[in-house]
Amino acid sequence: MNIMQQSDSYIMPTYGRNPVVIEQGAGATCYDADGKKYIDFGSGIGVTSLGYCNQVWADAVCEQVRKLPHVSNLYYHTPQAELAEKLCQMSGYQKVFFSNSGAEANECAIKLARKYSFDKYGKNRNKILTLVNSFHGRTIATLSATGQDVFHNYFFPFVGGFDYVEANNIADLHEKLDDTVCAIMIEYIQGEGGVMALEPAFVAEIRKVCDERDILMIADEVQTGIGRTGKLFAGEYYHCQADITTAAKGLGGGLPIGACLANQKCADVLNAGAHGSTFGGNPIVCAGAVKVLELLEQDGMLESIRDKSQFIRETLAKLDEVQEVSGIGLMVGISLKSKKAADVLKICRENGLLVLTAKTKIRLLPPLTISSEELREGMEILCHAINSNT
Ligand SMILES: Cc1ncc(COP(=O)(O)O)c(C=O)c1O
Repeated sequence: MNIMQQSDSYIMPTYGRNPVVIEQGAGATCYDADGKKYIDFGSGIGVTSLGYCNQVWADAVCEQVRKLPHVSNLYYHTPQAELAEKLCQMSGYQKVFFSNSGAEANECAIKLARKYSFDKYGKNRNKILTLVNSFHGRTIATLSATGQDVFHNYFFPFVGGFDYVEANNIADLHEKLDDTVCAIMIEYIQGEGGVMALEPAFVAEIRKVCDERDILMIADEVQTGIGRTGKLFAGEYYHCQADITTAAKGLGGGLPIGACLANQKCADVLNAGAHGSTFGGNPIVCAGAVKVLELLEQDGMLESIRDKSQFIRETLAKLDEVQEVSGIGLMVGISLKSKKAADVLKICRENGLLVLTAKTKIRLLPPLTISSEELREGMEILCHAINSNT
């Protein structure tokens, strides 16, 4: 039995997979089992932010594996303390809770917002407004938070206490705001929803009503955070600091992590016994994540991400078939005039480039550290696929 048959026989069929068995990688390049080379513009869906097997990251992780691979949160350990301090200091937040995924980071944010409101206002102020077309994760609560009907199937009953505001519609925001709302949760750039950046005036209005009504603003930066847009967090483009920001994906550089960051107002809401995670803040994962943040802190790193973004966008702008390029930084959505994203993805793959799709768009989330050679090579394959006649 080959690897694909073995996987399909024994793993639940929840993914429509590419017929590629990836064996190993270095930088933004990986190889399949037959030695075929691929430039990877997907980074494991925005996860391998430093590319495959970054030397500094891999050394820190391997050293930690041999020193102290796991210790429960009933004890202290150095990598977790270091990561927490660095993340809070770089982001301007007061405290963090570590978990293992984006969905879990959002679960934490939802619990935190509801408890903040319960502690101050009692039981009946627990509604969270999210946006139509959002994506917040696959657990029952984060699916409930996700503002897409397609996700609200099969698994009834969903969690109550969510309502959905049309993105960029200030009138709809005000219509849905009532005395039971305790939080508003947004992605600055809707990722799975089609790489759609919110309008600054809409974000500013959310921040304003949250301040006026003591509602917590939650920014889900699971996909947009940790340098992906050329800033540590995408909120910086909006000159906006949410009360709670969640991160995951790229923070671990390839190992599972979630982080829920809280400002001073709500940093101590989740007290002893209110929340927990067996693996959250694991020493190995934290040792790697510290290296991700150290790299982002280096002079010129965020700027280089913005430069790479500009190169991608300028290259795509020259193609007749490209209707629109959306997103910010190295979070890129490409709408095509006549071709289907899935067809372009297939041509790219056959020619040695891995890309993603989001709704009807091609989506690129290349490693933040991608070299200019890899970027140029990948863009050549992409442009050729977009221009091709098949
Ligand atoms: C904005 C956003 N939030 C949450 C999630 C869920 O993250 P995870 O799959 O790590 O649970 C994702 C995943 O794509 C995401 O893009």
